[in-house]
Amino acid sequence: MCGIVGYIGNRDATPILIEGLKRLEYRGYDSAGVAILKNGNLNLKKQKGRVAELSRKALNNGMSGSLGISHTRWATHGGVTEENAHPHVSQDGKIAMAHNGVIENYVSIKKFLESKGYSFYSETDSEVFVNLIAYHYEKEDEDSPTRFFDSVRKCLRHIEGTYGIAVMCTECPNELVGARKGSPLIVGIGDEEFLIASDVSALISRTSNVVYLNDGELVSLKNGKLNLRTTDEEDLEPEIQKVDWEIQDSELGDYEHYMLKEIFEQPTALENAMRGRFTDDSSTAKFGGLNVSAQELRQVDRILFCACGTAWHACLVAEYLVERYARIPVEVEYASEFRYRNAPLDKHTLVIVISQSGETIDTLAALRESKRKGYKTLAINNSVGSTIARESDGGIYQHAGPEIGVASTKAFTSQLHIISMLALYLGRLRDMSYQDGVEYVEALKKAPELVADALKLNDQIEEMAAKYKDMQDCLFLGRQDMFPIALEGALKLKEISYIHAEGYPAAEMKHGPIALIGNECPAIVLATQPDIHTKLLSNIQEVKARGASVISVVNQSNPMPEGLVDDQIVIPDCHRSILPTLASIPMQLLSYHIAKMRGCDVDKPRNLAKSVTVE
Ligand code: M6R
Repeated sequence: MCGIVGYIGNRDATPILIEGLKRLEYRGYDSAGVAILKNGNLNLKKQKGRVAELSRKALNNGMSGSLGISHTRWATHGGVTEENAHPHVSQDGKIAMAHNGVIENYVSIKKFLESKGYSFYSETDSEVFVNLIAYHYEKEDEDSPTRFFDSVRKCLRHIEGTYGIAVMCTECPNELVGARKGSPLIVGIGDEEFLIASDVSALISRTSNVVYLNDGELVSLKNGKLNLRTTDEEDLEPEIQKVDWEIQDSELGDYEHYMLKEIFEQPTALENAMRGRFTDDSSTAKFGGLNVSAQELRQVDRILFCACGTAWHACLVAEYLVERYARIPVEVEYASEFRYRNAPLDKHTLVIVISQSGETIDTLAALRESKRKGYKTLAINNSVGSTIARESDGGIYQHAGPEIGVASTKAFTSQLHIISMLALYLGRLRDMSYQDGVEYVEALKKAPELVADALKLNDQIEEMAAKYKDMQDCLFLGRQDMFPIALEGALKLKEISYIHAEGYPAAEMKHGPIALIGNECPAIVLATQPDIHTKLLSNIQEVKARGASVISVVNQSNPMPEGLVDDQIVIPDCHRSILPTLASIPMQLLSYHIAKMRGCDVDKPRNLAKSVTVE
């Protein structure tokens, strides 16, 4: 939530900051702002709404200078107003700050500052934060060369909550300060310039050399030097890492929306998930970064999967696949519930968290809670260098490339593919035979091609979308491993088209949701499994008997009887381990086209943000 970008160098900061903000807009898009420091003067522009509007305001007003900070907001404290937009400036006009996170003790700090004569123009916790820096700045020795940096560091000792910040001071025109706790912050080291940002995508057009800050670290970027310290005053040697993706990966190209681009990138994302991950005899998977030995894994008698949103649906698929192929009992928890539930876990439990961004605060907290209790933790994650990737004991990178659309598509199916590979790997460590392993690997390798075939349904699904785009409600039904796909189908539809949708286990429908069924509420039934085909047929009959339209998703060998359903989507036949991935494709395409036809902002749905870094 919220994106921040800071720049210090010898070029004009404004266009660089605006470009960075555009790339971070998926993190929040309620308002945006930029502050530039030139000759000791602070030039500040804020705007309700999108970065494009801010861009017009800032660039047309000739804002220029080689030090600046900027912000795109997802509102937490205070409404969506220009006053509440960042950057915030201290009452004395000296300190400006862009903040991503939530300050939990801002009320008591505010009272303290008010008692010292401070007053506030916004409703935000961040304005309190910047004034506390200003308060410490005034207390520091005027002649100290580290006055500004020290004042930020001392302020941070009093801050409870989360922050990723970029700060500058009118009296220190050669210094940009950043710090993080709980919200991501990355420093980009460019050609005689530094950038600070919440995410690599904002830096990648200028440099691929980055330093990931850890919690409790601050950085001063001054006169071409990078100084990294902890809030406890320990000096650190920055570890410079190379980012392995290119700017083109995060560009729209010929596509109208990132979501569509990412849907069509799925065959490649699956290829990337598999690259170098099968043994030479192609009988099982192998993972470089698990940091858990085969011996240790054989001791595991339960796996707990934890995540939020779409990634939680991937966890539910894991429950079916890992139990079926590896015969290890699986539990699935919402990270936000698990972190406060104090659940008793058996000592041989392995905890696996799944997160595209690697920064989701609840998932991170669940990971930390599991580690604190001494459990081995693994992460399935798409963002190299993210907090979750760095804090887990080991893990599997998805290598799906940047996912910009707020609605997760390629990251989800890439998670499913990795889960499928993991189920194979764990299965082969236990009872799965060599021959079954070889067949399984063959099936996994076919997935990109089959997904490409499923993507050919695009035109048919677009036509179907025109027929259903005005529905008010929609029920998604599926059984077993299609149940999570029904949940995911419903989530996709509601988050980008604002149509009320519910995912349900098909048989459970009779225990309540059937009351919704009628000609106003179509049902999308995932009827792809041969072993329960007749059961799903009965569920469809029950829906049809109540006058609802039915769209069925079936595979080639098991179509529905002629005339039973209103519309039918036929996906290719495939091995059961990749069925959830294939069945997801029509769900994604249907949601996309419906949302587009309804005039919704597909890539930036209302109220949402890509990376949820607040509780
Ligand atoms: O980055 P994460 O995978 O941890 O994100 C989890 C959810 O916030 C995310 O999947 C969300 O539900 C998406 N909007 C779904 O499309």
